[in-house]
Amino acid sequence: MIDIHTHILPQVDDGAANWYDTLDMARAAVSEGITTIIATPHHANGTYTNAANEVIKHTRSINEQLIDAGVPVTVRTGQEIRVHDDLLDAWHRGELLSLAESSYVLIEMPSSRIPKTMIEIIHELKVMNLKPIIAHPERNLEIVQHPERLTELIDAGAFAQVTTHSLLGGFGKRIEQSAWSLLKSGDIHIVSSDAHHIVRRGFRLSEAYDSIERRMGEQWVSYLKMNAQAVVLNALFQDQPTIVSSSDGIVGRFISYFQRSKKD
Ligand SMILES: [Fe+2]
Repeated sequence: MIDIHTHILPQVDDGAANWYDTLDMARAAVSEGITTIIATPHHANGTYTNAANEVIKHTRSINEQLIDAGVPVTVRTGQEIRVHDDLLDAWHRGELLSLAESSYVLIEMPSSRIPKTMIEIIHELKVMNLKPIIAHPERNLEIVQHPERLTELIDAGAFAQVTTHSLLGGFGKRIEQSAWSLLKSGDIHIVSSDAHHIVRRGFRLSEAYDSIERRMGEQWVSYLKMNAQAVVLNALFQDQPTIVSSSDGIVGRFISYFQRSKKD
């Protein structure tokens, strides 16, 4: 499996505090079957600054240490870039990183609202041949209250990533409901952990995929996994499986009842 959003680099943000945290996270990832992790330290969020050259240097060093420690996982470069006024200029100055050197970039909105410039920024990134992936929209209050506003951002050319912990109830019932509702609506393209620490916020990626398989079917798991792989391969995302709506569920239950009745 591939995890495109993690805070595994040590001492750069509120993720791994030191090399031992990083090592614990890498071992936990391997035990879940994760082979590639994209390191996405917070950047330009008002608290943390992790410019491209620093992330590249740290990632190289961590990969060398993981090889020495015999942990079979590859860490790739990335950033979780907070949407800010200087974003496009910062890209041109070479301070920003895409995910795993692809054309996909992970962007984060404030948790309370959608910035007024969001549509414009999505358009500008597209003009620059970049594909914005919006980090955890299910945790954005404006989207929780008005999910159709995420659809507007997707229609403008963005993609969206839901967090494993949101799907599994780690941020409470409301976020859990928002996460599943957005996923079932078709506005989510990728699942990742946003892992910070093995105890506080681990990966839970295989657990989340198991839950998606139970609730939405294997074809959705396959779609989401292929999209995570597409980021690393710099390929296009897959066509989406059929949307699971509540009415489909009712129809599906009726058909299976009817088929059972005919057999009896
Ligand atoms: Fe994050």
